Amino acid sequence: MASQVLVAANRGPLSYVLAADGTLSARRGGGGLVSGLSAALADQPDALWICTALSDADREAVRRGVAEPGVRMLDIDPAVYDDAYNGIANTVLWFLHHHLYDIPREPVFDARFRQRWQSYVTYNEAFARALAEEAAEGAKVLIQDYHLALAPGLLRELRPDLRIGHFTHTPWASPAYLGLLPADIREQLLRGMLGADLVGFHTEAWAREFTASAGAEAPVAVFPLGVDGDELRSLANRPEVNDKLAALRAEVGSLKTIVRVDRTELSKNILRGLLAYRELLTTHPEWRGRVVHLASAYPSRQDLTVYRTYTQDVAELAASVNAEFGTPDWQPVLVSVQDDFARSLAAYRLADVALVNPVRDGMNLVAKEIPVVSEAGCVLVLSTGAGAYEELRGDALTLNPYDVTETAEALHAALSMPEAERAERTKRLSAAATALPPAAWFTAQLARL
Ligand code: G6P
Repeated sequence: MASQVLVAANRGPLSYVLAADGTLSARRGGGGLVSGLSAALADQPDALWICTALSDADREAVRRGVAEPGVRMLDIDPAVYDDAYNGIANTVLWFLHHHLYDIPREPVFDARFRQRWQSYVTYNEAFARALAEEAAEGAKVLIQDYHLALAPGLLRELRPDLRIGHFTHTPWASPAYLGLLPADIREQLLRGMLGADLVGFHTEAWAREFTASAGAEAPVAVFPLGVDGDELRSLANRPEVNDKLAALRAEVGSLKTIVRVDRTELSKNILRGLLAYRELLTTHPEWRGRVVHLASAYPSRQDLTVYRTYTQDVAELAASVNAEFGTPDWQPVLVSVQDDFARSLAAYRLADVALVNPVRDGMNLVAKEIPVVSEAGCVLVLSTGAGAYEELRGDALTLNPYDVTETAEALHAALSMPEAERAERTKRLSAAATALPPAAWFTAQLARL
């Protein structure tokens, strides 16, 4: 049966695991986009989510015709997928939108880049074709993120009757950064996006970057994704999280906590966060032995060498801070590399200070989740580069993400803030964070289409 509401995203709501005896079982997918969209679609039982088969187990599920209701996985040639996902989406488009290039060396747009771009086109065509097959007459389609920037234009050609939305969960590159692309590629990218009837972003700032390149008449709108407060609090109070919290408390004792939770992602600025913590312990030695930095940095995009190197650099810097300041009964930094949502929620509950210092970030839901869940109220130390800055700046302590000294001073001010002020700010942060929960974020876009 054709669908009235369709979503397209590289990552799906679930992934399969193939057991030794050949049986397939479904697990929940990971990442910010997936948690937001999954929550939004809980209210849309008839919606269809089209995604990529990411692993061999996913591809096996497609071949066997195993399917969860509401999900269609596309079995894309692994070599094409590798070029499109690793070669273009994550090393070109992600780097442009987050301003991550080490300019003396990158980017290099050569013949190999052109081949990869062809795979990116093929990958976008596969999505456009699948959407065209599955959509009912006049259906609404919401295409997600930089992986699928060409799909709106391609789909428009196949099915002019559809209402097409595109939503970007990342920042959008400044015109100067977008101008690094070869002119014809930049044109294709913008034309692809402008195939949509509605182009959505998390913040005014990213929408402005887009119109600065695409033109003021672009059909842009801002939908700042928030969190579902009730849902998150109930998740954070499950017995499993209580157990993790008890374990963390046993480890941390009465020390103050600075908490961060990220994918080990270049744009998250984890290294400067650690440098700031080191500077705090140097310039404010009164905190030695009285604070602990809980840094959860779980692995991401490990196919890419730069991510593997970065992961190693984070571990080494954390170890060097521990070696420099640690004592037999105090370890300054506790790093966790497990993607363990229950443990993250336990850390949120315990947080005195939340450190969110990305160089550039579409929204950053962690900045919204911690104030909602923290028990005693926490101080949010927030980068001006996070999308969440637009809504949370009034009650956070804000910083320039490159300024390690300013970050260290913000950590000091946060640790020193009186309880009453901290509680008041947390209440307002939590209200702002829950202003547009996923279901409302999604239906607002459908209504606007
Ligand atoms: C960001 C992107 C998402 C992506 C997520 C995890 O939040 O906006 O589209 O799913 O990172 O990255 P991954 O490459 O593991 O899907």
